[in-house]
Amino acid sequence: MAELVVASNRGPVQFEVDDDGNLTSGRGAGGMVAALGPALAGQAGTWVAAAITEGDRVAARRVARSGRLRTVELAQGSVRLRSLAVDPRAYLRYYNRVSNRTIWFLQHYLFDVPRHPRFDRSFQVAWRDYRDVNLAFAAACDDEASPGGEVFVQDYHLALAPAMLRERRPDLRIAHFTHCPWADPGYFAMLPSRVAAAILEGMLGADLLGFLVPRWARNFQRCCQDAGYRVDRDQGTVLTPDGRSVLVRSYPLGVDGEDLRRRAAERDVQAQLRTVTELSRGRALVVRVDRMELSKNILRGLEGYSLFLERNPRARGRVVHYALAYASRRDLPEYQAYTAEVKHAAEAINERFRTRSWEPVLLELRDNYPKALAAMALADVLLVNPVWDGMNLVAKEGPAVTRRDLVLILSRNAGAADDLADGALLVNPFDTAELAEAIATALTMPADERAKRAALLREGASALPPQDWFAAQRADLAALRPFG
Ligand code: G6P
Repeated sequence: MAELVVASNRGPVQFEVDDDGNLTSGRGAGGMVAALGPALAGQAGTWVAAAITEGDRVAARRVARSGRLRTVELAQGSVRLRSLAVDPRAYLRYYNRVSNRTIWFLQHYLFDVPRHPRFDRSFQVAWRDYRDVNLAFAAACDDEASPGGEVFVQDYHLALAPAMLRERRPDLRIAHFTHCPWADPGYFAMLPSRVAAAILEGMLGADLLGFLVPRWARNFQRCCQDAGYRVDRDQGTVLTPDGRSVLVRSYPLGVDGEDLRRRAAERDVQAQLRTVTELSRGRALVVRVDRMELSKNILRGLEGYSLFLERNPRARGRVVHYALAYASRRDLPEYQAYTAEVKHAAEAINERFRTRSWEPVLLELRDNYPKALAAMALADVLLVNPVWDGMNLVAKEGPAVTRRDLVLILSRNAGAADDLADGALLVNPFDTAELAEAIATALTMPADERAKRAALLREGASALPPQDWFAAQRADLAALRPFG
């Protein structure tokens, strides 16, 4: 039993079974794991996460037989992992159909509205699975949490779990954190009313609801207000029908700069520095690092770059766009189509502009963290142009890891824009002409302005490392309902 329990869909590591039946493990992907890993390591807590791969399920079975939880080593220390295996088909409906294709799309305004969403019979089946998986998480947290302990539930996959857990364990202090944006009430109302109501009610089972920046917290409060809850904007609270007052706050998140630079000094990253240097051959490097993700706006990024080349003939041959976009959510047809479009768009630029000695776009689709760090460390310009993004940690990792005066082109719709506005070149992510101009501005920026902006970026990026971000939530939760 632990004082501190964290629950999230994706865990800190992912297991794979190799050809000899041995288990190998790698780092879990995405912003949530990047934030929680360092925050939790060394805290003597338990992390409850879904068994996602077949390897995870094998690992979970072995642990169940041994009767003891697995301890996993992260860069910053170890954590105890409780891996939750649910029926694989139900898991896919919970993860693909409801979490990713519905809630993620909703919170990032990604629906192709003339066609999707459709809340038909198959959605109803998937919604039941979503409820069941949330219930399984609530039960596991109930199991793991000590009396009066704290449970930190993460993200949109687990919106119902806080209320389910409260029902079983009123003694616990419960927080929920949303790692993505929150849509405005008009868009949120696209959900079937009982689904929208269940999500709000589920989350309001917590004592504390965390968001990355004030804009998302405000949208959430407006949704609550429209649903008939009493909201006190000044206090930042939502009153529930059973008389509880739920605190809604934003906790901006940055990166641990020192830790990143230490990681970048390791041999694998150093080797990649040489590879990336060879790729760029002394040319200016415009880098992006993302999951292959609709909300990351990779297509418009390529379009803006193409426009830049068109309008700046003298830049041709002197710049390379190094786009790292590693595969994500491959089961979804929208992501398969998007991947094909991105490849096609990159190839079209190359066909149009390439010379015998110059390839304008290098697209890399394999997940390679050391290479991503090396690319960020060598970048002249880092392009982060999501249509919407809860925070976007790449925008912070880049300035924190590099020793150069990096120029950051940043979408104003990323939460990170709140913290990096003074140093970055902010762009409207839909305006590719503006992006083309921003690339030109970035590549011709005078050295003193680059230095000034880079210093601001470095400071903004490392201001709130994950440890502080998590400590602030713990302090607020502890202050809410004193134990005993
Ligand atoms: C975002 C979400 C995380 C998620 C990550 C990767 O950062 O907020 O919860 O884990 O994307 O997505 P995936 O579907 O691969 O877990």
